Amino acid sequence: MRTPAYSSRCAGWPRTLRAMARRSSTSVSRAEGRRSLSIEATVWRFLCLRADPLAALQRQGRHREKPRPRRGFFVPKKCYIVLVKKRLVVGNWKMYITQADDARDFALALRRKTRGLSGVDVLLAPPHTLIPAVEEVLESSSIRVGAQAISAYADEKHTGDISGAMLKDAGASFAIIGHSERRAAGESDALVREELLRAVEAGLTPILCIGEKERTRDADHFSYVEEQLNSALKDMPKNSLKKLIIAYEPVWAIGKSAADAMKPSDVHEMTIFIRKMLTELLDRKMALRTPVLYGGSVEPGNAVELLKEGGVAGFLVGHASADVDSFVAIIKACK
Ligand code: 13P
Repeated sequence: MRTPAYSSRCAGWPRTLRAMARRSSTSVSRAEGRRSLSIEATVWRFLCLRADPLAALQRQGRHREKPRPRRGFFVPKKCYIVLVKKRLVVGNWKMYITQADDARDFALALRRKTRGLSGVDVLLAPPHTLIPAVEEVLESSSIRVGAQAISAYADEKHTGDISGAMLKDAGASFAIIGHSERRAAGESDALVREELLRAVEAGLTPILCIGEKERTRDADHFSYVEEQLNSALKDMPKNSLKKLIIAYEPVWAIGKSAADAMKPSDVHEMTIFIRKMLTELLDRKMALRTPVLYGGSVEPGNAVELLKEGGVAGFLVGHASADVDSFVAIIKACK
């Protein structure tokens, strides 16, 4: 017996996917207690096993090797050649560290404790006011400093806004865009797209944040994330997005503790979904190159598991990035 949601949700899918969904929905109804949203989950898991070469590489721990091609119907052979870049850990201080002296001390300690570490890129986003102080300390290190937000406007008549050019001048090399806390304060999808354009124009690496507010039985999170990605990336000149980084941050998982973070298997499912969306919006090569980070209660206690099983390229870290030891432990977990 199929779950009631099967036919409407799967209409329009390719035939092979529909067949898989049909099979999975049958087993869903047999296995009591499992929710109907597992239709998508099962399909994505299957896609990941069969068709996501990056995930396969990561599972095998052979990041640079070319895996033995599996027979997959979804991704052409070309895609088995994956360019896995370094892992990436981005610290978002929010307003946890507010004083220039504390920021300098933190930056010095971070620099010292990560000296000689390879295989992971570290980025730090202090509040705007502290960018110059932090950049001064980290200038000669490999740690990059960036901004937590950027103005969506290109003209000057915006009191209190900080443009991409101003951020660059202050020492930023990247900008976080569309963070859920800013979206909650009123930034619309349209505004986020403008911010992305401003970052690209200013030559800043854009870190685009996406993520659903909640999870429901109807699996709305897929369409929510899809809409955010569509709105930000559709019809954007592809050349401008070569440095794009995606940060998947489910709002409900932010600001809690490791125990409340998203399950690694769910992170993995979303990573695959996001990469599939990127393939449609950009192209396959760019989709495979674009790092997808996870954010939401990442702490030293769950970083390794999230990285290994979540299939992500690294993390966007909030509260734990304001404690130098926790931040360094997360960085080391990504080595
Ligand atoms: P926490 O790590 O505090 O959950 O915050 C995540 C976040 O919002 C990073 O941008």
